[in-house]
Amino acid sequence: MPVFSSATLRSAVVSRLRAAGCVFAEDEARILLTAAASPADLAAKVRARAEGHPLEHVVGWAEFAGLRIAVDPGVFVPRRRSEFLAAAATALAGPPRGPGAVVLDLCCGSGALGAAVAARAPHPVELYAADIDPDAVRCARRNLAGAGARVHRGDLFDALPAGLRGRVDVLIANVPYVPTGDLALLPPEARLHEARPALDGGADGLDVLRRVVAQAPAWLAAGGSLLFETSERQVATALAVARAAGLAAEASQDEDLDATVVTATAG
Ligand SMILES: C[S@@+](CC[C@H](N)C(=O)[O-])C[C@H]1O[C@@H](n2cnc3c(N)ncnc32)[C@H](O)[C@@H]1O
Repeated sequence: MPVFSSATLRSAVVSRLRAAGCVFAEDEARILLTAAASPADLAAKVRARAEGHPLEHVVGWAEFAGLRIAVDPGVFVPRRRSEFLAAAATALAGPPRGPGAVVLDLCCGSGALGAAVAARAPHPVELYAADIDPDAVRCARRNLAGAGARVHRGDLFDALPAGLRGRVDVLIANVPYVPTGDLALLPPEARLHEARPALDGGADGLDVLRRVVAQAPAWLAAGGSLLFETSERQVATALAVARAAGLAAEASQDEDLDATVVTATAG
């Protein structure tokens, strides 16, 4: 019997993961058994997972909005809750904006959000992405190559070609928004294995968002929208920040995904 279909092996992997505190040991064992190229590779992957590395970093990909997104070590793992942000952005990339809506995935990480919008929009989009982290940019270039995206590296809008100013129809910005004081409360997978700049949003979690909102009006097309994720605790302040910049901002929520998204539209 091939080693990877052995029930004994599967149950040994499940037990090892369970002992390490993995809540979804059965599901993770299935993924690890499928991803491993050899018994030695399986042993290494199980060890890495048991030591606390995120499953997505161990296997090299995450499932997001039905897509398989490559996620390199250290790069932010796209969260299931962000599928709500991707869906809201996709809705705005369709008619009357499409075909050819200009979509920008700022703070793109692996590029999961941009990839989801490009895959789900009813028409092709003109896609740009940017991040400050070179590992994220490398990863996003792989994930977004099929969508023909241009992926830039740099600090927020500084990374982008000047010709994009005033042209962005859909500006997705899943910025870091964990308040610095809450970083210690994050699960070890995030705290120890994702880059701090991917998580740390400053004292109230809104520092990076404030910088994005301040510059967004100059990059949005008339009627274009900035969309970002926030927490329930932050949403009132986040709405006030967007409205103070002259954007018409509304929040929406998905209880199943525990997700809050603000859509802030230019006049
Ligand atoms: C919360 S993660 C989101 C990643 C991705 N959008 C997603 O949802 O999976 C935030 C990302 O913002 C990037 N970032 C943080 N500060 C930045 C800055 N000043 N300029 C550009 N990117 C930044 C981080 O490198 C990280 O990839």
